[in-house]
Amino acid sequence: MTLTVLGIESSCDDTAAAVVTAERRILSSVVSGQTALHAAFGGVVPEIAARAHAERLDLCVEAALAQAGLRLGALDAIAVTAGPGLIGGVMAGVMLAKGLAAGSGLPLVGVNHLAGHALTPRLTDGIGFPYLMLLVSGGHCQFLRVAGPEDFARLGGTIDDAPGEAFDKVAKLLGLSQPGGPAVEAEAASGDPRAIGLPRPLLDRPGCDLSFSGLKTAVLRARDEAIARDGGLRRAVRADICAAFQAAVAEVLAEKTRRALALAEVPVLAVAGGVAANGAIRAALETVAADTGVRFLAPPLALCTDNAAMIAWAGIERFSLGRRDGMDLAARPRWPL
Ligand code: KG4
Ligand code: ZN
Repeated sequence: MTLTVLGIESSCDDTAAAVVTAERRILSSVVSGQTALHAAFGGVVPEIAARAHAERLDLCVEAALAQAGLRLGALDAIAVTAGPGLIGGVMAGVMLAKGLAAGSGLPLVGVNHLAGHALTPRLTDGIGFPYLMLLVSGGHCQFLRVAGPEDFARLGGTIDDAPGEAFDKVAKLLGLSQPGGPAVEAEAASGDPRAIGLPRPLLDRPGCDLSFSGLKTAVLRARDEAIARDGGLRRAVRADICAAFQAAVAEVLAEKTRRALALAEVPVLAVAGGVAANGAIRAALETVAADTGVRFLAPPLALCTDNAAMIAWAGIERFSLGRRDGMDLAARPRWPL
């Protein structure tokens, strides 16, 4: 049978396990989210996340094996996210993977979470190297030129917040629900992006770096000015602020993507991360790809956001290069590609 790998992911607020084959078949992909656990705190609480991972990881693995219809012993390797991420969660996943490897005798392969995202288009669409990956999520924002399973060149990225984080903070400032991205996008639909002037951070500077914290501060100022003027935040003004914010993020991402494509000289632009779900941002990126003459690839959302199928796949890519890890595999809070 083809190479078949169990993937385990627990680096942020999703506990996940999946079984994937080298022929790009996802036999199972189980994701247990923790949004409700963290909702009252306005962000992911590391201690709560770690406990939830510890409670759920073995159940997720059991479910992933059952859905794949395979016993652990029928697999070829165990791949696990070894970082970067919230260390308590990463440790819970790595400890479980080591225990399963020791008990079954299967080889262990540590995977960088970012490599998991970056290699996803090869799992979903079978594309070759090289390609440009724009990773835009709640925790990450970077341009990666991917030239091999272990060959990632970072062309630029955020110097402060990730765009998803900015969407979440803007939603909080405007009294919208979390996660903020979908809430801001829904509100923006009835707003006028030109009604409010917002900055385009770092657009005037060369290179592919991005910044989103100033945009968040500008939204705060626009909100306070509107409240002072109108005696409260009118619904229509809130929609305008959302539309203006979304347009600013889309424009900055599009222009920086144009520059990254010019540097990368690749035939494909791929995106991953929750923010890639945003219609306006996706449309702006598609336009850049079309203008530049490159193929645009956005994997299905369930494989764009955190999941274990991408970890199993990245494990398959590393395993195929002969990589193995021992019981000394470390859980790493920071681990640049
Ligand atoms: O990739 P993801 O599920 O998790 C990680 O950050 O790892 O991304 C979640 C982020 C959140 O910040 C959320 O607000 C944002 O993606 N997001 C969106 C949209 N849907 C999710 N941002 C903008 N527009 C959306 N439609
Ligand atoms: Zn992620």
